[in-house]
Amino acid sequence: MSDLVPLFQPKSVALIGASSNPNKYGYWTAKSLVENKFEGDIYFVSRSGGEIFDHPTYPDITSVPGEVDLAIIAIAPKFILPVMEQCVEKGVKCAIVVSTGFGEVGPEGKELERQMLEIARKGNMRLQGPNCMGTYSSAKSLNASIIDLAPGPMSLVLQSGNFGIDINFNAKTRDLGYSCWATIGNQLDMRFHDFVQYIETDEDSKVLLLYMEGLRVESEEDGRKFIEAAKKTAVKKPIAAIKIGRSAAGARAAASHTGSLAGSEQIFDAALKQAGVIRVDSPRQLLDAAEAFSKCKSAKGNRIAILTDGGGHGVMATDFAEKFGLEAPVLSDATQDKLKEILMPHCPIKNPVDLAGTPEADMWVFDRCLDVLLKDPEVDGVIIVGLYGGYADLSEEFRTLEMDVAKSMVEKISAADKPVVMHSIYAQQQPECLKYISENDVPVFGEVDAAVRTMGLLSQYSEIKKNLQEESDDELPNMPSDRKEKAEAIINAIKESGRTNLVETEAREILRCYGLNIAEAYLATSADEAAELYSKIGGKVVMKIVSPDILHKTDAGGVALSINSEEMARETFDKLMANGRNYKSDADIFGVMMTTMLPSGVECIIGSSYDSTFGPTVMFGLGGIFVEILKDVSFRVAPVNMPSCRSMIREINGLKMLQGARGTKPCDLEALAETACIISHLVNELRDIAEVDLNPVFALENGLAIADARIVLQDEK
Ligand SMILES: Nc1ncnc2c1ncn2[C@@H]1O[C@H](COP(=O)(O)OP(=O)(O)OP(=O)(O)O)[C@@H](O)[C@H]1O
Ligand SMILES: [Mg+2]
Repeated sequence: MSDLVPLFQPKSVALIGASSNPNKYGYWTAKSLVENKFEGDIYFVSRSGGEIFDHPTYPDITSVPGEVDLAIIAIAPKFILPVMEQCVEKGVKCAIVVSTGFGEVGPEGKELERQMLEIARKGNMRLQGPNCMGTYSSAKSLNASIIDLAPGPMSLVLQSGNFGIDINFNAKTRDLGYSCWATIGNQLDMRFHDFVQYIETDEDSKVLLLYMEGLRVESEEDGRKFIEAAKKTAVKKPIAAIKIGRSAAGARAAASHTGSLAGSEQIFDAALKQAGVIRVDSPRQLLDAAEAFSKCKSAKGNRIAILTDGGGHGVMATDFAEKFGLEAPVLSDATQDKLKEILMPHCPIKNPVDLAGTPEADMWVFDRCLDVLLKDPEVDGVIIVGLYGGYADLSEEFRTLEMDVAKSMVEKISAADKPVVMHSIYAQQQPECLKYISENDVPVFGEVDAAVRTMGLLSQYSEIKKNLQEESDDELPNMPSDRKEKAEAIINAIKESGRTNLVETEAREILRCYGLNIAEAYLATSADEAAELYSKIGGKVVMKIVSPDILHKTDAGGVALSINSEEMARETFDKLMANGRNYKSDADIFGVMMTTMLPSGVECIIGSSYDSTFGPTVMFGLGGIFVEILKDVSFRVAPVNMPSCRSMIREINGLKMLQGARGTKPCDLEALAETACIISHLVNELRDIAEVDLNPVFALENGLAIADARIVLQDEK
């Protein structure tokens, strides 16, 4: 049983700090509990004594007569520790601390939080908050917040009480309510993943909404727990999230190309995607999603039909369709034939289907055309846009007719196996027939973009479910079983010498431990040795400076390509060593690395960086020297399996460059996915690693070639 059952389904609740003073939090919460008719015992704990809302009060929680599942604590921080001790003594299972003045105010508050957590963990009591606005649960009619919340199909978990109020205002006007509602405050104990896990099993939650500012993490395991919990929940019900701070989190300074591209925001975004969470931008969009997911049938794909009574709105919907990941394909001949029988010859019927003035003569064309579109197996959803809801203004007869047609359309929509959303110019006015439509599970929007975006979300969710199912297959490439110990031995030796930068020859060795195919490379420490090595390698050879103090070798004039003789190798050795010293006079130069010149292909980058919230990550992108300019990269939190790596590669904007564009042969995408997959396991197993760059990796028709490898270790903590 989830630890959060006593939070959302308590048999009894105690409010500590209950008050009869209408200016106090302890009064507002008491009022919510009583007025919402909590289906269990309510105990008020107050030091002032007397009665509150006709309930007796108790001086402390230990004097409460019955058992207490849930305690709501609304007292000043300075009293919190003894009160929590008493709660533990009483056997309270969950406590919500709504008071403020903890970690959010400074180091003293943080210390207080540390002690609170210690008491809670020792006493087996789960803790929500502090600095939060409480909880609501329709299961027990529990309103342990100060907001007027109503029952319904959504669950909402927020990091900001004010957004809770904001969203609730909107929810009320749309007649949307909650199964579970919770504000998590400082996330001291209960974190997002705890709530996501609980809501997975809550039958009444049809959709889960999150408002996130960030995850509180003690270790990166917390970030991963969130991903795991969300994945499990998202296959059962849609999760939509606002995550603020898109603009704030720029990329940080990093040693590798991957590190400089992997800002915390990029990783958070990738983690949400990986977790199957739909990201939206505003409270409005969050509720649009909630309304659609709680009302509509699921979309099987992204092909939509648009039904309109005015050209402009129809075309606008078509434009938005593309933006929101939908397609409005030309309707099949069979469907067009049926539409021709209903409509006049001047009406466009390819998609959008434009009624173009016919409804004034015969309102039933709406109903008949909708019926045809709903029955078309090549249509996954229908969007109605335009004037519907406004015909009533024209005459009394139209008013009746509009309602009759609405009823018939609703009947067809509820019998159909695909979603329908509607836009109406008259949505704001809420005419009777639109109210009827909306109450009967067809979302009605006042803006075309909102209607189309929301249909896009329905289609996106069906894609997410498909991907999550596909990605649950644990397919992995072969990796040597002794990989970890071998690689660790190399890393430990480097750490002991006090370095965190591996030189390329060392990085290559680590990659080899993991079974990655990478050309032999040799270190020359003199010009003579370089000449000797040239004759050993033969053909065209690449020479690179090897120094832990020179991270980007090209910048130091430290790379020479197409070396084709012993003599040239000798000269190049001297030149590269001199360039290295010129670049950085005190650089520790190990020598010059020599390896065979690789066949070139499409330049890619495969890398990894360490994220403080989610731990090691893996990145794939179009690379080479322009990777930071193109920023065409995708991320996953490591480790990942092959199906996830395949979808990571498919996410790239420039995918066509890898699939064979303008006469080039398609690249071996499977080999790229395998290398990314192995890197993801490498960084997951070798936690000393902070950053990895394989840049460039040449994607070839068969396999790939790794031309450069960089590994940077974590700074000693
Ligand atoms: N073995 C090789 N075969 C063919 N070309 C190579 C090889 N090694 C390097 N190159 C080419 O030389 C360029 C520079 O080499 P490399 O990536 O090792 O240097 P770098 O300056 O350290 O890289 P970065 O820009 O990642 O810091 C590569 O982008 C690649 O085009
Ligand atoms: Mg490079």
